[in-house]
Amino acid sequence: MRILIFGAPGVGKGTQAKILSTKLHIPHISTGDLLRRAVSKKTPLGLKAKELIDNGNLVPDDLMGGIISEELQDPKTREGFILDGFPRTLPQVKILEDIFKSHNIEDYYVIILEVEDDVLVQRLSLRRMCSACGNIINLNYLKDSSKCPSCGSKNTFVKRKDDDETVVRNRLSVFHGLTEPVISHYREYNRVITIDGMLPVEEVTEKIMNHLS
Ligand code: AP5
Ligand code: MG
Repeated sequence: MRILIFGAPGVGKGTQAKILSTKLHIPHISTGDLLRRAVSKKTPLGLKAKELIDNGNLVPDDLMGGIISEELQDPKTREGFILDGFPRTLPQVKILEDIFKSHNIEDYYVIILEVEDDVLVQRLSLRRMCSACGNIINLNYLKDSSKCPSCGSKNTFVKRKDDDETVVRNRLSVFHGLTEPVISHYREYNRVITIDGMLPVEEVTEKIMNHLS
């Protein structure tokens, strides 16, 4: 199964994509995660992308196209994948459509998650990631805020630099300006699943799974 997941920063794309990846046995491809890995390894891509990411601006389309084209050539994606964070601009839609054409891919699902901006700003101020296992958490929902509920590591939570409120507001304005037209484009597609991302995580997953089946 091939899935594209869309929505504003903090809407729950990564959270749901990780769960769906496990349930459906398909790899989760997150362009944000790929870029952050490149930044932490200080690769040439990472060095170009760091400042853009830290300020909440987009990395140029040609660089992103190269990353996605390489990822989708990996044999592990042959049976399916869940793509999180791409395409984010109309030129990226064209890049993806060309890749799909060259791989004879015609069938895929589109999931759109929706949450109000003010809730997203609040959510992102409380988001942490476990640096040991990559688990994403919301501090509000943890009994013990020093221990990762997934791997049990202590004091391993880190906050993303781009979750600072000013940067989040810029990411939201980039989303409304450049990525909403992408979502409008996919709304014309007949396999679109639109879900209220304000529901609890488990309910969002349940609704997605019900639609997919
Ligand atoms: P990226 O990493 O893709 O960031 P994003 O799209 O801004 O989205 P986030 O990862 O912040 O949020 P999410 O929707 O995954 O939410 P999450 O599940 O973590 O991109 C980062 C940067 O990389 C971009 O700004 C850009 O610079 C660059 N980039 C990436 N792709 C690019 C591209 N294609 N082109 C150009 N540049 C690109 O959840 C958030 C929080 O909410 C967590 O705390 C979570 O626990 C909580 N939560 C989740 N679901 C729920 C729920 N249902 N109820 C309550 N809390 C919830
Ligand atoms: Mg994410």
